[in-house]
Amino acid sequence: MLAISGIGTLVTNDASLERGKLGIINNAALVIGDDNKIAWAGESVNLPREFAGMATNVGGRAIIPGFVDSHTHLVFGGDRASEFEARMSGKPYTAGGIRTTMTATRAATNEILIENAQRLANEALHSGTTTLEVKSGYGLSVTDETRSLLVASTITSETTFLGAHVVPPDSKIDDYVNLVCGEMLTQCAPNAKWIDVFCDHGAFDVDHARAVLTAGAKAGLGMRIHANQLRHGGGVQLGVELGAASCDHCTHLNDADISALAATDGRTVATLLPTAELCTRSKFPDARRLLDAGVTIALASDCNPGSSYTTSMPLVISLAVLNMNMTCDEAVWSATAGGAAALRRTDIGSLHIGAQADFALLNSSSHIHLAYRPGVQLISAVFKKGECVAGSLK
Ligand code: NIG
Ligand code: FE
Repeated sequence: MLAISGIGTLVTNDASLERGKLGIINNAALVIGDDNKIAWAGESVNLPREFAGMATNVGGRAIIPGFVDSHTHLVFGGDRASEFEARMSGKPYTAGGIRTTMTATRAATNEILIENAQRLANEALHSGTTTLEVKSGYGLSVTDETRSLLVASTITSETTFLGAHVVPPDSKIDDYVNLVCGEMLTQCAPNAKWIDVFCDHGAFDVDHARAVLTAGAKAGLGMRIHANQLRHGGGVQLGVELGAASCDHCTHLNDADISALAATDGRTVATLLPTAELCTRSKFPDARRLLDAGVTIALASDCNPGSSYTTSMPLVISLAVLNMNMTCDEAVWSATAGGAAALRRTDIGSLHIGAQADFALLNSSSHIHLAYRPGVQLISAVFKKGECVAGSLK
């Protein structure tokens, strides 16, 4: 049992409180039960007496649900600092860089891959992320995709098979898609919850993407799609048609794409990845257009060595507010409850009674500071399943 009082702003994301989308309680207290779930949330003055004596007072700081980063590529070898440097000197970003990381990933031992993925997961945890989705996609052979998923499953249960990231060198696209939908899927499915495909220029077209997602769904995996990142195409429409949980990137959308996403009524989430635009010097998507149409948005880091080598959800939130026309409340919701929706989870991303006690204590009085103070470390403590896993309440 843990009780916390003196919370300046408590973001619950609990719509049933009828306190706006974020379900904000000011001057709040929170109680976590022995089952590591939220047992009570309300104003400090109403904290039941049996908890008041044992409560730790956090002196007016804010508490938010832990970030749900629903899109990362943490399993890889090496890095691509020289590609980044060349890009900053004017070379464009292309999907082809994925093959450089494929070579480094194939050359790395399982131990090295686990160590690297855990280092990044730990970095994410210290910046407030309590749930990570992790993809394969840099092995691109049966053996290397299978071991990538084994590595991913040491980090999270939200594992995604992304054999269809790009076609590896010396393979023909049709042969490779057959391999992904056949033997590779059979070997990878036991350690994967989701299937994903990079449907874009330089990667896979809509027909190949359909084949991959359909095969994955038949094997019992949920569907997600990388769509419309590098240019406009049919990826988002395909994701909606197949009932994917999420269409990710959504950088180049037309009105029909936005209407299609909106018509799913939140079943298919648009996951926006602003650090990918930042690190490839691309135009940011206009989140306002999506929100005004009624699309559910998740924000995620896309952490990978090519287009977005960061684990920082606070940075993602600031970019979404400063460059994508989201309000502070919308961005915080999308980085928490939105991420949970993209993973079709109702037990995380929110601090309603009965939710898993995953939350972050900020060193500021409100969640607004996450956007207002870009690049500043604002996380005082992180709790996962009721346990303090980073920092402290002091
Ligand atoms: O999400 N879009 C496809 N995959 C990654 C990039 C991978 C890479 O460049 O290594 C992304 O941006
Ligand atoms: Fe990605």
